[in-house]
Amino acid sequence: MSDEKARPGIEALLEETRQFPPPADFVAKAAVSNTSLYEQAENDPEAYWAAWARKLDWILDFETVLEGEAPDFTWFADGKLNAYVNCLDRHVEAGLGDKVALHFEGEPGDRRTLTYADLLREVCRAANGLRSLGVTKGDRVAVYLPMVPELAITLLACARIGAIHSVVFGGFSADSLRDRINDSGCKVLITADAGWRRGKPVPLKATSDEAVAATPTIEKMVVLERAGVRHEMVEGRDIHWSDLIDGQPDECQPEWMDAEDVLFILYTSGTTGKPKGIVHTTGGYLTGVSATTRLVFDLKDDDVFWCTADIGWITGHSYIVYGPMSQGATQVMYEGAPDWPDCTRFWNLIEQYGVTIFYTAPTAIRAFMKWGDDFPASADLSSLRLLGTVGEPINPEAWTWYHERIGGGRCPIVDTWWQTETGHIMISPLPGVTTLRPGSATHPLPGISVELRTEEGEVIDEGGGYLALNRPWPGMLRGIWGDPDRFVRQYWSFWDDKVYFTGDGAKRDGEGYIVILGRVDDVISVSGHRIGTMEVESAIVEHPAVAEAAVVGRKDDITGEAICAFLILRDGFDHSPELRAEVQDFVGRKIGRFARPKDVLLTADLPKTRSGKIMRRLLRDIAEGRALGDVTTLADPGVVQSLKDRYQAEG
Ligand code: PRX
Repeated sequence: MSDEKARPGIEALLEETRQFPPPADFVAKAAVSNTSLYEQAENDPEAYWAAWARKLDWILDFETVLEGEAPDFTWFADGKLNAYVNCLDRHVEAGLGDKVALHFEGEPGDRRTLTYADLLREVCRAANGLRSLGVTKGDRVAVYLPMVPELAITLLACARIGAIHSVVFGGFSADSLRDRINDSGCKVLITADAGWRRGKPVPLKATSDEAVAATPTIEKMVVLERAGVRHEMVEGRDIHWSDLIDGQPDECQPEWMDAEDVLFILYTSGTTGKPKGIVHTTGGYLTGVSATTRLVFDLKDDDVFWCTADIGWITGHSYIVYGPMSQGATQVMYEGAPDWPDCTRFWNLIEQYGVTIFYTAPTAIRAFMKWGDDFPASADLSSLRLLGTVGEPINPEAWTWYHERIGGGRCPIVDTWWQTETGHIMISPLPGVTTLRPGSATHPLPGISVELRTEEGEVIDEGGGYLALNRPWPGMLRGIWGDPDRFVRQYWSFWDDKVYFTGDGAKRDGEGYIVILGRVDDVISVSGHRIGTMEVESAIVEHPAVAEAAVVGRKDDITGEAICAFLILRDGFDHSPELRAEVQDFVGRKIGRFARPKDVLLTADLPKTRSGKIMRRLLRDIAEGRALGDVTTLADPGVVQSLKDRYQAEG
């Protein structure tokens, strides 16, 4: 964390005093309806997690639970299991083969229903197909697919044969895909011709070709024909999905994995320009996601669960694929945009499939609010019984709207805090137990322990501080792919006593309610997607017109935060609106469209300290139209006032 970012008094939000106890009829049916589970877990956290782990199927039971020292913990290390078998075979063997696993709806309106038996068959064929390409245990497989069932099938096929999947969200650019493939040395890339977004095909094969031009480890590319878009196939390297699985047997011997064998890598942004490949292993991760799916969502056998995240992000990994599927849930999966062909799409899906649990992001909720109440009011949402949010702080106004307009005032809302690194939900209400307060993720889950600390490491009982996780948990990241030093530096070195630092600020009131205040490091959250300011800066300075760039986040009514870029141009380049748009597009091409800066200000100078460090804190003040903070350490205090005037003038 840069020192000027280590803001001393973390801002406190407005007090929210309304309280929402769990409704009596919800409590009556809830799996957990009193606090005894918290006490039980607190008395013996290891026994608590071991009991959850034993609800999974192990081919070799574990004897050890937690071992090691920070940061190198292991969970259930002498046990053996297969994640896939836990997600599919055991349900089919238990007689649930005909239960619907996925109700899929593509953006153009195409539908597919896959039962657990169907999925088992499809995944075995895909797993055999991957084996026929020479993929074996420990090989890395890059996945760059739209939100179609084959995405889930690919993850599970990798898990079946012990290959490590590395999913790259379909919105990332060719450069981002290339860097991620090279970082973990993937052998195979699985992609599609294109996916659908707002009525248009988003090309993926063409982007993959561009990426793979500079990825020496890729031997094969598998191409799913999703959108009927013309595409080139490279002889000897490329193979269509349909040809890969054609004639493959419906059965496939699973690879038995040690609990600590790697299940997947997922890249996330950090405070440097280079994304981090977060490593998750098999036994602990699966224990964590299955336990939290049951508890937080109070999942019952007849529920219809819909998590709107893309599988390209951790939420989709944990709460579409591994959590709900290990629990045999019926799910809805939708490919496209919520406003296509119009803003009723989500609500019609809920009505049509009788969705009972709906899990989405605050950004989406704020967009729904803006579109207006008529859209949700036009559909029958009475099937819903529980709502959830994830990815960013939810403002009490959006919480209230969600509670009333979507939940009809009767559905509890679980505001779930967690991270790519934590693997599963860490702070959240239990819907049958916790009295809710809008804007608060409430308390750590049973078995989880958190602390708020000052920068010096002093523990704070009440008030604002840095959010730390001071007890190991089963789904915790086991490292950063290929970079053990960064793993220690990034997460375990903020304080001397090797406690995990989340990068978030939070505050806690006298009753233990936690409000997450957002990132305190150089990471921006746009629509809940983490983007490092350094990552955007490194992309921008590759533009030939740019000499220097400083990127900060500012508040945005819909996306939570928006990216603002302050640029100094090289001599000979004119400040023009065209150049601003060009820089925005440039970042879109370099990283992905979702990382395009919303505001771009071209300037002759940036506020710097006498030692030459850019004072981003002041740039944030400017971007948010606030009074300027302390400018006494600036080399040239005049710069910042003139920047402020220009920023306001250019709106
Ligand atoms: O800042 C927190 C925010 O999202 C970050 C994690 O981002 P990512 O790894 O992309 O995972 C997002 C989905 C789990 C956190 O450090 N965040 C996540 N959930 C919440 C949140 N902020 C406030 N409230 C939440 N419920």
